Amino acid sequence: MLKFEEYVEMANRAVAAIEYPAQPSGLYEPVAYAMSLGGKRLRPVLALMACDAFAGSPDRAIDAAVGIELYHNFTLLHDDVMDRADMRRGHPTVHVKWNENTAILSGDAMLTMAGQYMARTPADVLPRVLDVFNRTAMEVYEGQQYDVDFESRNDVSEDEYIGMIRLKTSVLLGCACKVGALIGGADMPAADALYNYGCDLGLAFQLQDDWLDVYGDPETFGKEIGGDIANNKKTYMLINAIASASGDDAKELDRWLADNEPSHRAGKIAGVRGVYDRLGISEKAEKAIARYTWQSLEWLDSVKMDEDAVVAFRDFATMLLSRKK
Ligand code: IPE
Ligand code: IPE
Ligand code: MG
Ligand code: MG
Ligand code: MG
Repeated sequence: MLKFEEYVEMANRAVAAIEYPAQPSGLYEPVAYAMSLGGKRLRPVLALMACDAFAGSPDRAIDAAVGIELYHNFTLLHDDVMDRADMRRGHPTVHVKWNENTAILSGDAMLTMAGQYMARTPADVLPRVLDVFNRTAMEVYEGQQYDVDFESRNDVSEDEYIGMIRLKTSVLLGCACKVGALIGGADMPAADALYNYGCDLGLAFQLQDDWLDVYGDPETFGKEIGGDIANNKKTYMLINAIASASGDDAKELDRWLADNEPSHRAGKIAGVRGVYDRLGISEKAEKAIARYTWQSLEWLDSVKMDEDAVVAFRDFATMLLSRKK
């Protein structure tokens, strides 16, 4: 197994080697822009690690790793339009730097490029890899639809929330693990156990993304803080605040949920965060993040891998616990 940074470096090199046609530049420049702004490359790293764990080398999974990263970045172009988000990775989002049509069409191109990279997977495992990739891609859209539907509902339960983030976020981390494992030669039970590891870790990951959206430092996080509150996103924190608020706090939450006036944005973010602080929502979220992380680790016990591979997946999960971006 390699060090985490070495897998990141490998993913970055492969992403930097993607070739884009020169014309029409209006289509491809935004793709190159999005792919060049960094990002943590967590999904390709998981795919490479999983392949390495079974094949003794990550190389066979490099095209699939790039394909999954292209797919992830495609979802971000469209997600930023849907979430009215102006900043990502410390830079203007594609729909701000260009326009919404560009974010739609360049996103479409990235989705197809993702499919092209996935199709370069070694033929012996290609059907199984495409099966999990395509199923996952559909699930992400389902999750994104629930995410939008929930903006206009104030009675979303915690179970519904977990179901939604499993779809929009977790399954892609699971998919990266499973694809890498299959390419590495793992049998289906092992690939599925790693898939479950990735999914549970993905729940912790999205909960933490929601937490960072309130309490993160915009410089480090690279995204605008408070977007979820401004959009009435039913995050773990808002759902728990709605469930536990009473008296003046409940009234204040109700008032802000009904107030979508753009000029009140800063007041709304500060007001809702004040309610969270009084109700101890931050600590509750942190406990849930830790719980899902430990849950993810339990899947590793059922996978037959060398101890250094187990350690690598365990370290990956615990490293995410302290992430600030
Ligand atoms: C952002 O994913 C979208 C979510 C699922 C929260 P990442 O936090 O992995 O984004 P990058 O690729 O590192 O920028
Ligand atoms: C991300 O959810 C899910 C997908 C992009 C599919 P968010 O909307 O919370 O992600 P960020 O915060 O914009 O990265
Ligand atoms: Mg979103
Ligand atoms: Mg978003
Ligand atoms: Mg977010």
